[in-house]
Amino acid sequence: MKTIEMASPGVRDGAGTRDSRFDILFEHVKIGALTAKNRFYQPPHCNGMGGLRPQAHAAMRGMKAEGGWAIVNTEHCSIHPTSDLMPEVLHTLWDDGDIPPLALMCDAVHSHGALAGIQLAYAAFYNANKLTREVPMGPTARPVDGHFPLQVRAMDHQDIRNLRGWMRAASRRASQAGFDIINVDANFSTIAFQFLSPRNQRTDEYGGSLKNRIRLLKELIEEARIGVAGKCAVSVRLIVDELCGAAGLRVEDEGLAAIEMIADLPDLWDIVVGTWADDSPTSRFAGENEHEPFVKRIKSVTKQPVVGVGRFTSPDTMASLIRRGVLDMIGATRPSIADPFLPKKIEEGRYEDIRECIGCNICVSSHYMMANLRCTQNPTMGEEWRKGWHPEKIARKSSDKHILVVGAGPSGLECARALGERGYEVTLAERSRELGGRVVSEAALPGLREWIRVRDWRVTQLHKLPNVRIYLESDLTAEECLALGADHIVLATGAHWRSDGQGRLQNRPFENLDALQILTPDDLMAGAAVSGSVVVYDEDHYYMGGVLAEKLARMGCAVTIVTSAPEISAFGLNTLELPRIARRLDELGVKMLTHHRLSRIEGDGLLLSHIHTGREQQLPAEAVVMVTSRTSNDALYTALQETILKQSGDNTLVSRIGDCLAPGAIYHAVYAGHRFAQEFEGVTEDVPFRRERISLGEID
Ligand SMILES: Cc1cc2nc3c(=O)[nH]c(=O)nc-3n(C[C@H](O)[C@H](O)[C@H](O)COP(=O)(O)O)c2cc1C
Ligand code: SF4
Repeated sequence: MKTIEMASPGVRDGAGTRDSRFDILFEHVKIGALTAKNRFYQPPHCNGMGGLRPQAHAAMRGMKAEGGWAIVNTEHCSIHPTSDLMPEVLHTLWDDGDIPPLALMCDAVHSHGALAGIQLAYAAFYNANKLTREVPMGPTARPVDGHFPLQVRAMDHQDIRNLRGWMRAASRRASQAGFDIINVDANFSTIAFQFLSPRNQRTDEYGGSLKNRIRLLKELIEEARIGVAGKCAVSVRLIVDELCGAAGLRVEDEGLAAIEMIADLPDLWDIVVGTWADDSPTSRFAGENEHEPFVKRIKSVTKQPVVGVGRFTSPDTMASLIRRGVLDMIGATRPSIADPFLPKKIEEGRYEDIRECIGCNICVSSHYMMANLRCTQNPTMGEEWRKGWHPEKIARKSSDKHILVVGAGPSGLECARALGERGYEVTLAERSRELGGRVVSEAALPGLREWIRVRDWRVTQLHKLPNVRIYLESDLTAEECLALGADHIVLATGAHWRSDGQGRLQNRPFENLDALQILTPDDLMAGAAVSGSVVVYDEDHYYMGGVLAEKLARMGCAVTIVTSAPEISAFGLNTLELPRIARRLDELGVKMLTHHRLSRIEGDGLLLSHIHTGREQQLPAEAVVMVTSRTSNDALYTALQETILKQSGDNTLVSRIGDCLAPGAIYHAVYAGHRFAQEFEGVTEDVPFRRERISLGEID
């Protein structure tokens, strides 16, 4: 890649000085024979790059190390082909051929003075071994998770001996790759935990009593130690509470007792709770440090350092957890994705520069997309290697051009900020009296308060840029835009919800629209009055329909949410929110109807039809909220095109970004704004990123 002069906006003159109350976060921590340089721990997290895109993966982990994390872990790394989670993009250490891609990560992490950890996992019950076609194994015979027509077979003693050998071999390979810490995975989806859980129904020495059920975990830790021959520390990631009551492991009875039994066997305890959905809840359902009640007693039963998680972004919360003796290290996965430089910023006293995670779980959704990790707050995430993007540095401007950005929603704010960081002269014009666009109104909806961080971080940064001028209440016409004399105009004017029902299933407006009160999400966010029986018709399938149903129920309406999808807020499957959304709506008395589309609006309600059978039913309603699709606010674009064509004919002067070009989620908008700024006067290639291709060389 060509060398470019970089602006480093993060390291400005006059950066703050660290408050001494946070010094505790920068103390060393002993992990076996190793020393972590501070208390910041990046727990294992998948990222859509893994072993499939190892250079991209290594660059992303290296970025975390550069940002100051003392320990940087991989994601789930499978130790044997009988435990294959593909098509999920993860790592494998099945043979020595898997060592080089992982060695890349170790080099990247070590080059910034951090320790590299690898999560060695043997998944059970969640894996159908779709790639390898091996028969999956578990403590007992049962169908695999989900809807896949296959069963897991029960492991016999030879299988257990084999498994121990695979852990030993994978640990040896990990040590050869350069890892410092082997993290033996006893998370919800792994064999070690499935043996430990009281749901294990075995009757041999691996089932029954807690002593028997923890035997396999103990053996796997011992095998890891043999495999690394003293060259690495060995940690354990363990669930201490399954959050399913007496049916599973509970911290107050066996969870704590399990740790006590093997208290000092590992060199570090990395503690989690429940399934992935419990471990990584969205901010709609859980705040920072939700897991403290489950981890607060762990240190009383072990001398080894304890790590916990809880979407920590507040240095005060972190320091308090250490000071109160709850944790020794701060585990932060999503906060490290939103801001890989979080530790550095605390270290340098630049607290206001921390790009706080908003708890939306778009990062999780990218795992399910099997594409490079993406993040609403951090548009550079996953682009470190393939686009050369850095979260704290950006290429200097290549001309003295002046850019007018119209619209200060997530896309316009990010575009103006990043162009400003590059050194361009930027004018940001916003029609309303407030910066933030859609996130201002959406963050006022139930549960979405933290989303305002998308605006807040950008506004804080913009105010530090003397070359960016911001004008509020500036509803510019095409002529006024042109009169400003900018060299380029970027339109980030957003979008609005349609009221006529046109969307995914309905390709033309519904008739009879004046028979009922028809509302859009924009109307409700603007405070429209509504009462009585209201139907939320959701063809959008992300959060908006469910959140509005919640809002209306809280306003006292009798609400039914109708969707053609098999689930309410179906995209929530990818953000781990489905059960919580259904539970909350149910608690509020919202009726939920799936698999139904709106066929017709009638005088006293709606005619619905089942999407498979076509069977029709009537649903009485006084009002309907159409959550179907949005239309770009592109009137200014059209006017500019016409005016420019009349004047100079150079219509390359104007660009559209974000919802103004094609409505999407907030992360699409932030990315679009950032991308425009990164590529302005630069990228012209058809494929604007580097790819990792499969080599067709000889394979042994
Ligand atoms: C995108 C993403 C991928 C994850 N992948 C893994 C994984 O591979 N292994 C694992 O043990 N936990 C995984 N987790 C769980 C996190 O390590 C962590 O325990 C959880 O997100 C709670 O921490 P946080 O609140 O700091 O995000 C993942 C979490 C996220 C957000
Ligand atoms: S995508 Fe959302 S939840 Fe994930 S790290 Fe970014 S801001 Fe946080």
